[in-house]
Amino acid sequence: MRKGQVNVFFLLLFLSLSSASDQKWRKAMMSAYNGSSSSSSMMMNRVGSSILFPIHGNVYPTGYYNVTINIGHPPKPYFLDLDTGSDLTWLQCNAPCVHCIEAPHPLYQPSNDLVACRHPLCAALHPPDYKCESPDQCDYEVEYADGGSSLGVLVRDVFSLNYTNGVRLSPRLALGCGYDQIPGTSYHPLDGILGLGRGKSSIVSQLQSQGLVRNVVGHCLSGRGGGFLFFGDGLYDSSHVTWTSMSQEFTKYYSPGSAELHFGGKATGIKNLIVIFDSGSSYTYLNSQAYQALTLLLKKELSRTVAKGSPGGPDTPTMLERSKAFQKCARCQEILQDLTGFGLCK
Ligand SMILES: *[C@@H]1O[C@H](CO)[C@@H](O)[C@H](O)[C@H]1NC(C)=O
Ligand SMILES: *[C@@H]1O[C@H](CO)[C@@H](O)[C@H](O)[C@H]1NC(C)=O
Ligand SMILES: *[C@@H]1O[C@H](CO)[C@@H](O)[C@H](O)[C@H]1NC(C)=O
Repeated sequence: MRKGQVNVFFLLLFLSLSSASDQKWRKAMMSAYNGSSSSSSMMMNRVGSSILFPIHGNVYPTGYYNVTINIGHPPKPYFLDLDTGSDLTWLQCNAPCVHCIEAPHPLYQPSNDLVACRHPLCAALHPPDYKCESPDQCDYEVEYADGGSSLGVLVRDVFSLNYTNGVRLSPRLALGCGYDQIPGTSYHPLDGILGLGRGKSSIVSQLQSQGLVRNVVGHCLSGRGGGFLFFGDGLYDSSHVTWTSMSQEFTKYYSPGSAELHFGGKATGIKNLIVIFDSGSSYTYLNSQAYQALTLLLKKELSRTVAKGSPGGPDTPTMLERSKAFQKCARCQEILQDLTGFGLCK
């Protein structure tokens, strides 16, 4: 199935909510880390191997997931927000910094290896008619859905990466030196963003174009917090994976195309919802039509199950969550569990 599809990105989304699958993956992670490291075995089959990162964080109360990546020479650790909804990886950077947000580590000291403006990695960050202000450097500006942004310049630096087969590699990859940041509404106190999107400038695309991993990115965000992220195809048995091709229409994002909203296992008739997988967003967002339909269905379902005579009937799911009646209602807990990750706030 690889033939003819090598340029298609796939997102493996493992939502592990059961303890059985958690344990299985934890085992996979441990055996992966047990490979003996030897840099002399550089010629080992890299394609077919993977790079694995443990993830820290949770949806609530933290509101984000982070991975630690070692960058620079000598390598220094940085905490990055993993974001499948954008391409560019950037660090808060001492270029010097005009506006930086409080970060866990000292600002990144940029390498002097600038990416030129006409370089394809730079072009991928700009519209086709973009005019280079200076040919020697690649200025970038990224904006996020929550209003946050980063402005900076593209440099190349060493990423220290451990493969699951024990090989250690230090490829030079392009990253943003962000010297002017505006925090968004969902501000995360981290050193930068790990861009995992489908574009050329994303870390996985760069590793793939250097022949260092196959273009597969997978993540497991555990319902109990934590999880792991991997690049490459060495950690799973492809025959046990259900593959869905990503839409060719929405090439910027991981989108399986349009979806229909189901509630309690039944179709609601709300169709043609364009869905994207975005690990950088804490909640699942619905458009207002789908949102209103879902809250209506929830209210109906809850009013059926909340015990009669309990104080205050079901109003909104968020209020219910806090009400005593709700605490007593086992079925409600069940419903809310099903909805973990849904943004039901207005
Ligand atoms: C990995 O190594 C550790 C320490 O050497 C050991 O305790 C653990 O059982 C090993 N795990 C696997 C899956 O081999
Ligand atoms: C990010 O992850 C690291 C482990 O990789 C953890 O020690 C650290 O506390 C996390 N940082 C934040 C700000 O969540
Ligand atoms: C890579 O492996 C080496 C040796 O096992 C270890 O010292 C280093 O911390 C690892 N780096 C990462 C990023 O895990």
